[in-house]
Amino acid sequence: MIYPILKIPNKKLREKCEPIEKIDKNIKTILDNMAETMYDAPGIGLAAIQIGINMQLVVIDCEYGENKKKNPLFLINPEIIWKSEEMTIFKEGCLSIPEIYEEVERSTKCRIRYKDKKDTIQELECDGLLSTCVQHEIDHLNGKLFIDYLSRLKRTSIEKKFIKMSKRRS
Ligand code: NI
Repeated sequence: MIYPILKIPNKKLREKCEPIEKIDKNIKTILDNMAETMYDAPGIGLAAIQIGINMQLVVIDCEYGENKKKNPLFLINPEIIWKSEEMTIFKEGCLSIPEIYEEVERSTKCRIRYKDKKDTIQELECDGLLSTCVQHEIDHLNGKLFIDYLSRLKRTSIEKKFIKMSKRRS
């Protein structure tokens, strides 16, 4: 099932998400629906809060755009356990802030710990675009958006634009 994706200034996007205690059928269905929604958008990452579900769930697939093979990485309760001091700048976007792309500086590499769908604890070393994407998605679980890294002026002007658009819609 494809969900509508929440856009700023929806306040839900600022919520802190709850950890998953039990990985049951319901959680697996949400993850599958998140993947379907992400591929449909299309995007390379999606956090559950972007479809209004306040849970620490993320799906990522950084390579689909290149090879057209779906290989979703599902992250349950992900946390960053190490970040490199070396930084890289990527032009980021977000499905909740459509058509805005801005440069953000993040750690070039990071290591995460998470649970997979089978309830197994995994660790993964991330580099390049995956590292950026993982950090961006884990920020969502803490109510943080990539525009928070921009200058106040830039951020405010983007927010104002979306507030105007949301008023036009309602
Ligand atoms: Ni995002």
